[in-house]
Amino acid sequence: MAESDAAPTVKEIPGSYGVPFVSPIRDRLDFYYFQGADKYFQSRVDKYHSTVIRLNVPPGPFMASDPRVVAVLDAKSFPILFDVSKVEKKDVFTGTYMPSTSLTGGYRVCSYLDPSEPSHAKVKQLLFNVLASRKDAVVPAFRTNFTALFQTMESQLASAGKSDFNKLNDNTSFEFLGEAYFGVRPSSTELGATGPTKSTKWLFLQLCPLMTLGLPKILEELLLHTFPLPPLIAKGDYKALYKYFNDAAGSALDSVEKLGLSREEACHNLLFATVFNSYGGMKVLLPGILGWLAKAEESLHARLAKEIRAAVAGEGGKVTLNAVEKMELTRSVVYEALRMDPPVKYQYGKAKQDLVIESHDAAYQVKKGEMIFGYQPLATRDPKVFDKAEQFIGDRFLGDEGKKLIKYVVWSNGPETETPSVANKQCPGKELVVLVGRLLVVEFFLRYDTFTADVGTILLGSQVTVTSVTKSSYSSSSSSSSSATTTTNF
Ligand code: HEM
Repeated sequence: MAESDAAPTVKEIPGSYGVPFVSPIRDRLDFYYFQGADKYFQSRVDKYHSTVIRLNVPPGPFMASDPRVVAVLDAKSFPILFDVSKVEKKDVFTGTYMPSTSLTGGYRVCSYLDPSEPSHAKVKQLLFNVLASRKDAVVPAFRTNFTALFQTMESQLASAGKSDFNKLNDNTSFEFLGEAYFGVRPSSTELGATGPTKSTKWLFLQLCPLMTLGLPKILEELLLHTFPLPPLIAKGDYKALYKYFNDAAGSALDSVEKLGLSREEACHNLLFATVFNSYGGMKVLLPGILGWLAKAEESLHARLAKEIRAAVAGEGGKVTLNAVEKMELTRSVVYEALRMDPPVKYQYGKAKQDLVIESHDAAYQVKKGEMIFGYQPLATRDPKVFDKAEQFIGDRFLGDEGKKLIKYVVWSNGPETETPSVANKQCPGKELVVLVGRLLVVEFFLRYDTFTADVGTILLGSQVTVTSVTKSSYSSSSSSSSSATTTTNF
């Protein structure tokens, strides 16, 4: 990307908020029903010939007190949202509305804290500690749980000719996370098989202002987008989840006083980071990756299978972290899926001071206190940075030129080339997430040569229904328990 060194002249930000109350509701209907998110933002970029625009964001009245934002919609202006010296990230995790803290035990959990608040560093450090202490548990926990998923998928394909990957992934990811983070499978506790349903209900109460369910519009407007649903609806579910965390995370919680946290605040935070951040993320991430693979050429499947099997063979047939690190195409595919469809699409930050935001073509003055908003897909599909930006190109990030583009992958609320810390707001699960994405691709192509699936949309992500798989003749010592002994042909 060639940028001019000359400082551009500072312009007024184009766009309009329209008539108070009326326009935000009209815009909300456009966003949810008449245009959809992509078109809502793109049509305004086209109308005002600018990628920095004033506009209203949903949900608007009465859920949010102020829907007016300055939207940054290209790869150059978007990173202003990562600079915590310039933007305040207090209570903006879900945007212009904030779910009641009675859904999180009365605490404002890490995702809602600005790094200037003392609890932020303490809680984020706790999460770094838990993830570091469980690093070696991730690959085995993933393999056990996803091998079982693929076995179920195969029997569903054999009996019904199709298999709903999202549904299987919801249950499997929940088990995987409990086992990987705390060494305790949720299904082996009092929670039984109810964890995913309880979690989804609790997540729904927090995210429904951003969703449509396909119910009559008037009903959705009243029930989901205008007033918060009462937290009481998920009280019992949250209590049961909390009990699991309090018991399963015992050893992590025993050390929190040293960090200056109470056991209770730490436990509510572990619950939120596991159920909202991690589980909520995996519900969108893994179908997203599989959906892009389903739509890709079969030749990409063959190249992935070759790379993955060679790297695993090089480690004596074991899926090790070392083997995964060597799989460059696999990593590129995961980055490309995260670029095309960042699982968390909206980011917010309030200007801490008067500041200037630069887009590719101009500079704009933002006043202290104004809300800055980014719709991430327009930044990561920016045609001024990416060739054929709207196309999924699996090997996009390979080679010297490809590597230069990695910094524009920003799904984690920061460039992929940077590192989360207690001083910034970058996702502490960054390394884990890219690992888990790659592990899905690895397990898949150890087991199958290729596959077909129907890909649609659901709530905040892709719906993937697998319709066929071609089993691999490959068998590695560590995958033999699943693939080599299964003889079903599809
Ligand atoms: C696909 C999976 C995930 C995605 C897409 C994702 C995305 C993000 C994004 C975009 C943010 C910044 C939100 C904002 O402030 O605007 C964030 C923050 C955060 N994420 Fe993740 N995340 C994922 C998984 C995880 C995992 C596995 C953890 C486990 C620890 C985690 C824990 C957090 C926490 C605690 C924050 C707040 C960070 C802070 O306050 O500094 N996330 N994540």
